[in-house]
Amino acid sequence: MGTQTLAVQLVGIEKRFPGVIANHDVNLNVREGTIHAIVGENGAGKSTLMKTLYGMHQPEAGTIHVNGELRHFRTPSDAIAAGIGMVHQHFMLADNLTVLENIVLGAEPVSRGVIRFDDARKQLTEIMKSIRAHVDLDAPVSQLGVGQRQRVEILKVLFRGARILILDEPTAVLVPQEVDELFDNLRQLVTDGATIIFISHKLDEVLAVSDDITVIRAGTTVAEVKPGEVDRSKLGELMVGSELPSPHGRTTEMSDTVRLRVSGITVKGVGSRPAVDQVSFEIRSGEVLGIAGVEGNGQFELCQAILGLEHHAEGTVELNGVDITRAHVQQRLESGLSYIPFDRHREGLLLSSPLWENTLLGRDGDPQFTKGPFVNSEAVKNDARQVIADFDVRTPSELVPAFALSGGNQQKLLVGRELASRPSVLIAAHPTRGVDIGAQAAIWDKMRVARDAGLAVLLISADLEELIGLSDRILVMFDGQMTARLTPAEATPELLGSYMTGAKQEAA
Ligand SMILES: Nc1ncnc2c1ncn2[C@@H]1O[C@H](COP(=O)(O)OP(=O)(O)OP(=O)(O)O)[C@@H](O)[C@H]1O
Ligand SMILES: [Mg+2]
Repeated sequence: MGTQTLAVQLVGIEKRFPGVIANHDVNLNVREGTIHAIVGENGAGKSTLMKTLYGMHQPEAGTIHVNGELRHFRTPSDAIAAGIGMVHQHFMLADNLTVLENIVLGAEPVSRGVIRFDDARKQLTEIMKSIRAHVDLDAPVSQLGVGQRQRVEILKVLFRGARILILDEPTAVLVPQEVDELFDNLRQLVTDGATIIFISHKLDEVLAVSDDITVIRAGTTVAEVKPGEVDRSKLGELMVGSELPSPHGRTTEMSDTVRLRVSGITVKGVGSRPAVDQVSFEIRSGEVLGIAGVEGNGQFELCQAILGLEHHAEGTVELNGVDITRAHVQQRLESGLSYIPFDRHREGLLLSSPLWENTLLGRDGDPQFTKGPFVNSEAVKNDARQVIADFDVRTPSELVPAFALSGGNQQKLLVGRELASRPSVLIAAHPTRGVDIGAQAAIWDKMRVARDAGLAVLLISADLEELIGLSDRILVMFDGQMTARLTPAEATPELLGSYMTGAKQEAA
């Protein structure tokens, strides 16, 4: 191995933002033809380091070597020309375009001013065959689930000729089956000579698939280990310096008060099948109802219907005994409904606004935040500081814009905001998506405390351990219907998985 070439070598990288040293003296050695994982707490500096390698940031100090050559990337185009591709933590596809258009646009396969879509189609078909992944090139991206979208992002990178792929939390949004498929594709790529760098908070998966692991803590490299040398808790300790917690069962009682009752919810789909098909359930005070499902099986539309954001929904919704089927979103939020959204960038945050304005979102009707017709900005800022402290959002202050937070810290802020409004019903979509293991445990605790105080939770999560650990009852949603109901005691990730993919079905 001593003579094996390094596909990427970063030496002494330093990167600062106003008030923050994101990277300090970071070293990274990525052997050619390997899968290299980068792990570390939220805000540790992982994405920043990868963006620096990809030419999006200029480091204040340090050097970048690719295949043994010293490089200076001024822009991502420079990095792409050197064979580096990056799939970001938050996807960047244009919804209104097809898969093919998304992949081709910006990649300049232009011949005399004409975009050669046919050539691109041929080339992409070859690429898909070689990595054994398929996507419908003519489908509009808006119709794809997350797993497929991610495949498109990867194809886009490969189409640009990348031999070194950077994937920033590629599995955060995937369910276990999709994760397996992704890693099959990646292994195939590595077999064909590519090099993969990936960031993940899922330590089991890191240990299972990587050849080498670099641990970053507080902006600097603290260890480089091999999966055989460490276990999950050792890796966690290297990251945060404390032990790994896990979700555990409840010790408190639920009440009989029904907080949320939905009956016969049906939402039209794009084809002939409804996206949501006659779904009914109720959630009591102090109860967590978990919904398991591969994304795209109607969970999103169901939540939209409950929130009043889906105008073609049939069926009824009752909140605390009051029929809110006709109520406007704002009214629903003011009556005690709260929502941790599926996509924090599209639905949850104003990225260019400061954190304090973000903590006000959806709560601007709350009298504690108004002064006559005006926003009481001092009260909001105080509240924002409280959320930041309670949820350990790592930031210099409540005045920084939301885009300056790391992905996991954005998520912590969102969860904090929604719980701070003291709702009676919380719809929580992937509440710990992208947060590190320590922060995940903290969020679980907060949700448990709120539940014990009477909160009813509709929990949607791709993290089956979380779903089983937090839920009092679990429903499996498949193709718009609830196809199975399980208790957390009988549910295992494998069993849930077989219901989620439709491989197994419960007698009706
Ligand atoms: N554009 C920016 N402007 C200002 N600060 C930034 C910017 N991007 C990142 N930071 C800061 O740099 C630090 C490292 O952030 P980074 O996004 O690299 O963390 P991360 O390790 O990827 O975390 P996560 O696991 O939450 O995604 C954080 O303190 C973050 O707030
Ligand atoms: Mg990140």
